[in-house]
Amino acid sequence: MDLPEEILAHIFSFLPLHDKCNAFTVCKAWSNTMTHPSSWKDTEVRCESGNSLPERFSDLLPLVRNLKLSMSLTDPANRKTGLCVLRQAVAGGEGQLEALSICCVGNPPLFYAGQDLQQGLVDILTNGSSLTVLDLRGVPFTLNDSFIRSVSMLCPALKSLYINNHSLVCGVNAETLRQALKCCPSLTVLGVFQASLSEDVLKDLMLPQRPALNKLELRCERSLKYTPPLCDQIWSEVKRRHPYLWVELELDHTLPELHVPGVLQPSIPVRCLRLLTWTLLLDEVHLVQRSYANTLEVLELQTPPSPELNSALVSLAKQCVKLREVHCFCVVSQEVITAFITHCPNLSKYTLKIYKEPHPWTCTKLK
Ligand SMILES: *[C@@H]1O[C@H](CO)[C@@H](O)[C@H](O)[C@H]1NC(C)=O
Ligand SMILES: *[C@@H]1O[C@H](CO)[C@@H](O)[C@H](O)[C@H]1NC(C)=O
Ligand SMILES: *[C@@H]1O[C@H](CO)[C@@H](O)[C@H](O)[C@H]1NC(C)=O
Ligand SMILES: *[C@@H]1O[C@H](CO)[C@@H](O)[C@H](O)[C@H]1NC(C)=O
Repeated sequence: MDLPEEILAHIFSFLPLHDKCNAFTVCKAWSNTMTHPSSWKDTEVRCESGNSLPERFSDLLPLVRNLKLSMSLTDPANRKTGLCVLRQAVAGGEGQLEALSICCVGNPPLFYAGQDLQQGLVDILTNGSSLTVLDLRGVPFTLNDSFIRSVSMLCPALKSLYINNHSLVCGVNAETLRQALKCCPSLTVLGVFQASLSEDVLKDLMLPQRPALNKLELRCERSLKYTPPLCDQIWSEVKRRHPYLWVELELDHTLPELHVPGVLQPSIPVRCLRLLTWTLLLDEVHLVQRSYANTLEVLELQTPPSPELNSALVSLAKQCVKLREVHCFCVVSQEVITAFITHCPNLSKYTLKIYKEPHPWTCTKLK
């Protein structure tokens, strides 16, 4: 079948790099299409087995707009290749790269802190960049103040910045975040550790010259022990200034139980809430239904099972009717499942089990 070159190029654009290379060798028409700029718009590069960058494609990498770079950490050669691909894509500020997401797979060496990748990224971006999206949720090491300060200075066009990875601790303080906001006046989507937020950061986000904030992803973990909680008053001001803002909160098991209520302030427009604390969450479930019923669309719980939890969830299902997803990683009663299915018309996925299953628990999809 003969497809127009534009369409073929669009299809090729979604292939990972090594499949692009294979397509190149199939026939003359395909190989011509591979040099079409649209073939390179979205490119995923996986550096996994120490394989080096195919030579003939390095000239085409500056055409990439959206790059997803996935690197295995086991062998340093993969990180070198990854940085090399990135350098070609940025091409000394001449490239077209707009969105970069980096994710790491495999076991990192002991005590690996990502210095080579952080330094490499800063070096590559030294001539400035047109990046509007930088997603570092897939890196398993701590990003620190000096890294974030450098990156925000080098990427003034950023609209989305995600630095809320599952690293052990938060390495970015509120002053650094304020600096980043100053350097990047167009930021509308921010994923950070909640420990990096302060009242001053939220006040900066409310300044009249700032664009409407769309999304805040906040990761709440043990570092919150050392920062004063944000009061409900400031959240209600944020909500007034940014009526379309939605917040995604994730509380993990390293957050001391004592600090959970301080995080769940009623005026936060919480659309997605992951309570992964493994603690008893009865009070929290009641609080969620009282505070977030108008906004909540995704709820995830990791908590011990109990008859009280079941009745709290039944009552939550009647209030939080906007839920699209609910995942509870403990056994619940049949009434809980019936309640969510009956009261939440948009429910499309759920993990609710009446018996223990071997892990990982499968999720049920509706429709
Ligand atoms: C930055 O630009 C200069 C001059 O155009 C160039 O020589 C240099 O290689 C660039 N640096 C990087 C890291 O691309
Ligand atoms: C931040 O991280 C970089 C790279 O890992 C490291 O070289 C630097 O010393 C760190 N800076 C601070 C202030 O911890
Ligand atoms: C952080 O990085 C690890 C390792 O690459 C990954 O498994 C995890 O999903 C990432 N965290 C987030 C929030 O994406
Ligand atoms: C379900 O989704 C539709 C389409 O997004 C929306 O208009 C409607 O308000 C939702 N219903 C509830 C109960 O949230």
